[in-house]
Amino acid sequence: MAETIPDLRGVPKPRAYEELKGHTDAILEGIGDDITAMATVAALLHHAFGHLWTGFYRTVVPGQLLRVGPYQGSLGCLEIAFGQGVCGAAAAKQRTIIVPDVNEFAGHITCDARARSEIVVPVLNRRGELVGVLDIDSERLDAFDTDDQLGLERIVSWFANN
Ligand code: SME
Repeated sequence: MAETIPDLRGVPKPRAYEELKGHTDAILEGIGDDITAMATVAALLHHAFGHLWTGFYRTVVPGQLLRVGPYQGSLGCLEIAFGQGVCGAAAAKQRTIIVPDVNEFAGHITCDARARSEIVVPVLNRRGELVGVLDIDSERLDAFDTDDQLGLERIVSWFANN
């Protein structure tokens, strides 16, 4: 495998995500393993964009409990209940949540005090079940927008197609 992680800081987001989607699919070709895919996606996104924290919370009790999965960054909280924090809210609603300022989100769970903004994207498998959520934190306020939402939803569509 000769894939390296490109530095996509400063690249327009739609093009950056297009490139990362290509990397993800190429690296994971022939691999039908969710944990391997989560580890690979977390590493690619984290280093390509220079995020503060990038990783997955996995559904361990459907409708009730998420537990941390593969991630890059400082120590993540281990468990989050559905409905709790940004991750739990995205899991319960099964929709992407963008938080421009974490201090304005009631119930935000602080794992790293440097986090200023956040995006959480639900991850579904091919049966339409919630495998978990992808959580990305930034040290910058208002770091995420609909370009990130579209790009990330496309990247995690891997889990619905493999
Ligand atoms: N901020 C998240 C918790 C997870 S950590 O940021 C890694 C939340 O409110 O759900």
